[in-house]
Amino acid sequence: MINFAHRGASNDYPENTILSLKEGIKSGANGLEIDVHKSKDNKLVVIHDEDVERTFIGRGLVKDFTLKELKELKSRKKLFRDNKECHIPTLEEVLDLIKDKDILLNIELKTDVIRYEGIEEDVVNLIKKYKIQDKIILSSFNHESIKKVKLISNIKTGMLYEKPIENVAEYAKALGVEYIHPDLRLVNEELIKEAHKNNLKVNIFTVNNPIYMRMCIANKVDGVFTDYPELLNEILTK
Ligand code: G3P
Ligand code: CA
Repeated sequence: MINFAHRGASNDYPENTILSLKEGIKSGANGLEIDVHKSKDNKLVVIHDEDVERTFIGRGLVKDFTLKELKELKSRKKLFRDNKECHIPTLEEVLDLIKDKDILLNIELKTDVIRYEGIEEDVVNLIKKYKIQDKIILSSFNHESIKKVKLISNIKTGMLYEKPIENVAEYAKALGVEYIHPDLRLVNEELIKEAHKNNLKVNIFTVNNPIYMRMCIANKVDGVFTDYPELLNEILTK
């Protein structure tokens, strides 16, 4: 099973930062999950929200800051405010971190609220430049983004969803994804079986409770996104 450190080891460290990703790897995760947006000057940046304010000391939308301005923002977490690895990373910095490691990186394209012109092409081109297509899953709640990725590459894709979809395996196959990424609340044994029967892998978000971690393991789920990669690693190895 892939243990995806969700936004890195985000229960202990500031989410979606180089520190949190490094700590995720240290804690035994064999996968990482990050979220990508675009800055005012069209750079690919790693942060969860459209707005910087929840995680950084600053106000406004990511798309209205230049990369230089985003880099100046300090983490909202007091203990990490002056940590050099706790700024907003570029996607390139994350690819540099994983390129020589045995890590599967799930890049979520955050295109469900703001439409970032050309984000799919930019992300795909960067992955191709690094020649690490086999280490990547591109996922999105915006299934139009997935279609775009499919048109321009054969990078594997994950269909995120948090509301029930009727005939989900059929829907996913029509979309052409290799993975379905359901919200934990939508998952039962039957769904996992149905997906596997249809040659679809299942990665579930966000699994932070050990009871559900064990349920995922027992049902042969392919991957789990967790804010507690160390705990999941402990459960998987014991
Ligand atoms: O990719 C799984 C999960 O990250 C999706 O939800 O809101 O944490 O980005 P969210
Ligand atoms: Ca995400």
